[in-house]
Amino acid sequence: MKFKLAHVSDIHFFHLCKSPLQFFNGRFYGNFNYLFSRRKHFDQNQIFALAQGLKKENISSILISGDLTCTATDKELSTSKRMLEVLKELGFTLYVLPGNHDVYTKRSFLKKDFYTRLEKQIDFTGDYSLNLIDHHVVGYKLPHNVHLVLLDLTKYNSFIDANGHFTSPIERNFKHLLREIDPTGSIILSAHFPYDTFKAPKAHLIDGDRLEALIKNDHRIKLYLHGHRHAPRIETRETHLLIDSGSVSLKESSSYNLIEFDEEHFETTLYTNDRKVKNAVVRKRS
Ligand SMILES: [Fe+2]
Ligand SMILES: [Fe+2]
Repeated sequence: MKFKLAHVSDIHFFHLCKSPLQFFNGRFYGNFNYLFSRRKHFDQNQIFALAQGLKKENISSILISGDLTCTATDKELSTSKRMLEVLKELGFTLYVLPGNHDVYTKRSFLKKDFYTRLEKQIDFTGDYSLNLIDHHVVGYKLPHNVHLVLLDLTKYNSFIDANGHFTSPIERNFKHLLREIDPTGSIILSAHFPYDTFKAPKAHLIDGDRLEALIKNDHRIKLYLHGHRHAPRIETRETHLLIDSGSVSLKESSSYNLIEFDEEHFETTLYTNDRKVKNAVVRKRS
């Protein structure tokens, strides 16, 4: 039987921050950005409508690849927590990693607010020796000898930047986890940031080329799932498929990806406004 995993990203829950501290911690920029741009284009309730639809299709697992919030405020993290509770009440198994907006201020980054607020709802420890909170890498065993590996590549940015960083310690941990995974298995890898060059110069994954080289070298990695660009895509690369689910909250073009796999193949289908727009298949052993 095929296993099905829905991949969504960039929900961007927003609550206006009224604290005067916002002028010191960069949140005023996030507020400004939301009020004058993002609000026009986003409807954060769409994740709930989508979840109802996925439930009817008997899809039981959801991966959220970051940017659950806009500026990682207490209220936004509370709404994220409530959303995760609702999805769990509906019966979904959830896999979640943070994006740059979830570590928006120096304080939220250093105090790991994202994890402390959500760790009761989400298993960030997985099935191997490393966990997402301390090591920025976690692995979960899925059916058909498939392993889901998540990377937290967030860094603290000034308020005008939105970069991630594939640092040397994370690279070491990632290699360590890859060694623990069955050499005959297949891997779905996910992080918030694309490893390739992003159109906005201040929103790259720093040292993304090193991550790309590792992915190309490990033929067990068949899918790389990310968000961040709000621009859905499925691209066939030499050894794997490169997939952006887009943003589930965009009013005009809410999108998500459905990953299905069995003993032989991975199939990925991109939906925009519930319409199939692209599909690709990759063999597990090539
Ligand atoms: Fe985003
Ligand atoms: Fe992002």
